[in-house]
Amino acid sequence: MLKTAAWRSPRLVLLTWRRATPTWRLVTALCLLTLVLAGCSPEHYPQTTLLPRGDFARIADDLLNTTVKWALLVFVLVEGVLIYAIFRFRGKPGDPEPHQTHGNTTVEIIWTVIPALILAAIAVPTVRAIFQTNAIPGKDALTIEVVGHQWWWEFRYPEFNLTTANEIHVPVGRTVSLRMGSADVIHSFWIPQFAGKRDVFANRETRIWFKAETEGEYPGQCAEFCGIQHARMAYRIRAQNPTEFQAWVAHMQTLGPKPPAGTKPAAGTKPAAAASGTVQTASAGATVQQAGPAPKPQGANYATGEQLFMTKGCVGCHSLQAVNAPKGMVGPNLANVGARSYIAAGTLKNTDENLARWIQNPQGIKKGVLMPNLGVSPPEAQALVAYLRAHQ
Ligand code: CUA
Repeated sequence: MLKTAAWRSPRLVLLTWRRATPTWRLVTALCLLTLVLAGCSPEHYPQTTLLPRGDFARIADDLLNTTVKWALLVFVLVEGVLIYAIFRFRGKPGDPEPHQTHGNTTVEIIWTVIPALILAAIAVPTVRAIFQTNAIPGKDALTIEVVGHQWWWEFRYPEFNLTTANEIHVPVGRTVSLRMGSADVIHSFWIPQFAGKRDVFANRETRIWFKAETEGEYPGQCAEFCGIQHARMAYRIRAQNPTEFQAWVAHMQTLGPKPPAGTKPAAGTKPAAAASGTVQTASAGATVQQAGPAPKPQGANYATGEQLFMTKGCVGCHSLQAVNAPKGMVGPNLANVGARSYIAAGTLKNTDENLARWIQNPQGIKKGVLMPNLGVSPPEAQALVAYLRAHQ
């Protein structure tokens, strides 16, 4: 039996294990196995690739399942034959030398052909999946431009002339085609439940596509080490039904000056169908912006916050315009920051308390981030929070 004292030292554990009866060993092993397997439940780990919620991820998951099934079959057969042979042909004292089979052509052909067939059975779906996931999406796909920055993500919707940051909205059932670049170093775009990873570069456009199948909010993460805050370069994906998505687009289009009727999209944006050209990631066209039209005056704190936003330096790096937003701003677009789930690229839940902490001490929370500590006092932070919270 296992005694509690046994857990005090590894040596005691080993001794107790040796003295335990086979039944107790089995019970202990099964308990440990249950504990370990409980950790594999994907429901508690949203950043899993094992619960695909999009067609791209499903292709990869199917491939994994196929490979694992073949591997399992091979394992069971080989280990089964091995164990059978160990017991069935166990040597006894006085047995003669077993018959040797060196150079048996038939056997060698068999054990060459079988692995070749298994490899072919894995290679065919693998190559098919590579072609499927690299296919160019159809013209009806929704194009979204993605720009990685140290350490946040910019998302632009040329079709709607919208810009947002760190939270990407996609319609369920419509393929989204992402055209991606980087404003600085190499990052990697990864939404585990929707698609594989794709590196983003400063001077080269890369693409990925996926079609969300299930509504919900999902995590995304930079998957290429890109500096000390690489781990805090996360984002959220909101997959919405088409009606909700259109409502979101319509709402976002009220956040910022509307382009005069009949004008082209802002410089650098491309219509959704455009298949050439690269994502503009440089700071061309970036200008210090005035805030967009104020949502609704929200009391004295709001007005103070607005004034602080203009005078404290925030406005030099952040735009509050979703429509016609300037490209290449140093900091994330804040047009709908009040409605986002997280701030600081997935670092903190978007509560008033966290937003105030962040405004006062970004360097203490995310060391190395471009946002400097601007000497914002607690009352000033409260006012800025009131102002930003109103930008939903
Ligand atoms: Cu960006 Cu890691």
